[in-house]
Amino acid sequence: SFISINSMTNDQLLALFELGRNLELQNRGNWQLYPDAIVSLLFFQPSTRTRMSFETAMYRMGGNVIVENTPQTTSSIAKEESLADMLRCVSQYANVIVLRHPNDVDAREGASYSSAPVINGGWGHWEHPTQALLDLYTLWRKFGHIEGLKVTVAAADMIEARTGHSMAQGLARLGAEVTIASPKDKAVPREVIENIKKNYPNAKLEEAYDFEKDSFNEFIRDKDLVYLPGCSAPAGATAEAFKKVMDDYFVKHETLDEEREKGHMIYVTHTLPRRAGEMDLAIDDTPNQLCFESILHSVSIRMALLTAILGA
Ligand code: CP
Repeated sequence: SFISINSMTNDQLLALFELGRNLELQNRGNWQLYPDAIVSLLFFQPSTRTRMSFETAMYRMGGNVIVENTPQTTSSIAKEESLADMLRCVSQYANVIVLRHPNDVDAREGASYSSAPVINGGWGHWEHPTQALLDLYTLWRKFGHIEGLKVTVAAADMIEARTGHSMAQGLARLGAEVTIASPKDKAVPREVIENIKKNYPNAKLEEAYDFEKDSFNEFIRDKDLVYLPGCSAPAGATAEAFKKVMDDYFVKHETLDEEREKGHMIYVTHTLPRRAGEMDLAIDDTPNQLCFESILHSVSIRMALLTAILGA
């Protein structure tokens, strides 16, 4: 199973990147490697990229896919079946299950009843490790290494930024110099920091709080990557106040343009979907934008992950 970025050792992550690069050649073909294998995608929350890139990865390898996009209404979850029973049954059909779920405690508990490997496709506010995997892979393809890169992971709410939790840990473990930037009252969960400090005492992982728009844009000037894991504005009365906080972490294209003219590239990746209000969309027309380059890489690295789990 792959439920956390910490489900793999550093050596396994790097081996997966090598495998992903080898599989890039197959990424546009139809490779009959798994004609008898089935991956089941159980998505209790909406998705474009995670769901469709897993589907694409499996189809590229000649495999089969069963998708349940709306299990709350179209599966027996609607008849009060438990997630544990659902996973216990689906694991009899599928060789691998990819689960997206709004509650990480329920997802973890349910996954323990599966007799097939389970991949975390985004669980609650906890982790979204395959998104981090593809973004780490994209960096590795761009720079040839992760070690020594200066990265900030920034959000107006790092409590709920599940991709940021996975990415910050993956980056720090692989030797990047990572700063997590957020308001202090929305700081990253202590579990993320403590896990790295305990298991990777030499890792460079720091926090920086309470920026304003100008100070944030000054702060990112020496970075190689600004990683925006995205956060959702709450509905209702607090939405306007939250938008103001988001504005304090807004990446301006002028900052990137000025540094690029001096010969320093600050790459920017947003994990999508909702990025308006977090980065200047004019960055899309510059070489600083990395998030669309990562879309093709997402299929190669998910092919690699499925291959590692299914065997070849
Ligand atoms: N980045 C990401 O997880 O996108 P989706 O929600 O569309 O899968």
